Amino acid sequence: MDFKLTEEHIMIRDAARDFAKNELLPGVIERDEKQEFPAEQVKKMGELGFLGMMASPEFGGGGMDTISYILAMEEISKIDASASVVMSVNNSLVCWGLDTYGNQEQKEKFLSKLTTGEKLGAFCLSEPEAGSDATSQRTTAIDKGDHYLLNGTKNWITNGNSADYYIVIAQTDREKKHKGINAFIVEKGVEGFEIGPKEQKMGIRGSDTHSLNFNDVKVPKENRIGEDGFGFKFAMKTLSGGRIGIAAQALGIASGAYELALDYSKQRKAFGTEICNHQAIAFKLADMYTSIEASRHLVMKAAWDKDQGGNYDLTGAMAKVYASKTAMDVTTEAVQVHGGNGYVKEYHVERLMRDAKITQIYEGTSEIQKIVISRAILKG
Ligand code: CAA
Repeated sequence: MDFKLTEEHIMIRDAARDFAKNELLPGVIERDEKQEFPAEQVKKMGELGFLGMMASPEFGGGGMDTISYILAMEEISKIDASASVVMSVNNSLVCWGLDTYGNQEQKEKFLSKLTTGEKLGAFCLSEPEAGSDATSQRTTAIDKGDHYLLNGTKNWITNGNSADYYIVIAQTDREKKHKGINAFIVEKGVEGFEIGPKEQKMGIRGSDTHSLNFNDVKVPKENRIGEDGFGFKFAMKTLSGGRIGIAAQALGIASGAYELALDYSKQRKAFGTEICNHQAIAFKLADMYTSIEASRHLVMKAAWDKDQGGNYDLTGAMAKVYASKTAMDVTTEAVQVHGGNGYVKEYHVERLMRDAKITQIYEGTSEIQKIVISRAILKG
């Protein structure tokens, strides 16, 4: 494994860093406070190519590798994790899923608009009674000949109101259990599709999270992704890559908090010297840096496995579980290093601490990642 980044990788990372500093940092505190979706900024992300990074150039994508994607995710997440979850869902769950498993017509009609940011995507798997237990889908999609009839409720959907195209997972044949599940593309505005109220969240408050209701929604047959019964595999395969994106988000949140704590510790004085000169603070910085570097190696390895065409279920799960714990630990310590100021919004670290928590929950909780990891190592 070569740890050296290419010139192109460095260029992408720097472009993402500049974008985050110039476009996302101004107003990030206010958007968090008001739970305001970064609509303008997301539009710009699309124009700069950050929304369909890995998708085929034929359909407007960047044709980039996963390493490029995670480098950009880390930089955006350092500043604004609400914007980076929009980016992550659109890139890894929606664009990658359609690019890999969609047919030519679906790619022309939907993917080509999602890669450019002209349209935004959402991924709808979770339900009130099917979160971690994803095979227990209650939403049904009954085959009616030329269309499916969709009924049910989806929960905690990222981009819930701001998306245009929704990938919805639903049960077509209950007897076949997970082999009777399908994935569909549902367009916003179709009859019977209602968007529920916005969730009031602890963190990533700029991203819009909603429940969705489907009441006798007619979904054309051509909007099914893959063969009949492929929906659960589609969701699992897509989520395996998505978890690398969320691991990179966690890594970014941790590095953002660490950089703030490092700078602060070099400026703030106590007992006659900058606080970084006190071992109590210096050791915290050492621990933060070490766990961030360990996370980076795991995230890079998972991305590299994906780029090599290998299996990344295990490495992606390890990267997510470790990087998300690091994000919690490092952001909590970053608040501590800042002392009283850490508890105040203008210093950013309290927001990063609130944002970090979700990385242990969405796209598979840490407990689910441990199921994936333990099953893989026990299988040998
Ligand atoms: N790739 C391909 N197939 C996979 C797979 C993978 N990574 N993981 C499982 N499968 C297949 C299995 O092979 C099996 O198929 P076969 O019977 O044909 O072999 C089928 O899926 C069922 O698998 P299991 O028997 O292992 O199913 P299980 O009920 O034990 O659950 C689980 C497995 C890993 C726990 C799964 O339910 C899971 O990942 N749960 C978490 C769901 C999740 O991540 N939700 C996130 C919501 S999306 C989100 O958060 C997005 C957002 O907005 C930010």
